[in-house]
Amino acid sequence: MKDKQEFYEDIYKRARPMLESRLSEYRLLHSISVSNTAAMMAKRYNIDVGKARLAGLLHDWDKNYNDEQLFKRVVDFGIEVGWRIEDMGSILHALTGAEAVKREFPELSSDIIQAIARHTTGAVNMSELDIIIYVADMIEPLRSQGNLTPLRVAVGKIPLDELFLKSFEVSMRHLIKRHRFIHPESLEVWNAYVAKERSKNPAKVELETRRFSGSQ
Ligand SMILES: [Fe+2]
Ligand SMILES: [Fe+2]
Repeated sequence: MKDKQEFYEDIYKRARPMLESRLSEYRLLHSISVSNTAAMMAKRYNIDVGKARLAGLLHDWDKNYNDEQLFKRVVDFGIEVGWRIEDMGSILHALTGAEAVKREFPELSSDIIQAIARHTTGAVNMSELDIIIYVADMIEPLRSQGNLTPLRVAVGKIPLDELFLKSFEVSMRHLIKRHRFIHPESLEVWNAYVAKERSKNPAKVELETRRFSGSQ
């Protein structure tokens, strides 16, 4: 009987050459980098390293499809997207990728599939693995846009919920700056994590908000 780490390692070894033919070189390197970053984060936060490493490798399984191809995959897979599909563009690759990975590797547990599905929009109740994949996707060392240093430095030093909110903020700012659509669920996610933060430390939030307003 294989142990858990061997199980994840076997799928990693099978998936990697498949990704070489699915993704561009840049995206393959990004996926490997997310995988390594997720493993590092899992170690720091004491969650299953092999599982995080594999989920990181698989997270962009459908990333090389264009919008038209993604729309078709959504229909073929019978995925319920819950919003205007034509405005969702590349965020669909998370949903179709999760479904495709589930079909390709039916032996994988649903938490890995969920982490893949949630890596673009996030969700109201992110699991630890969901957060690790979301954040690793953003901070992996090959990413150079924006100032990611505060997020990278915060890994292991703050709870995962806080790390997710900080990362989500970076992502929201990015969308607003580029006048991109924001999925309505993302607003719910934002509000849910702000509420969590306020319930944990209302005084700190108040102080930081005042400091921010004062600098305008
Ligand atoms: Fe992605
Ligand atoms: Fe990615």
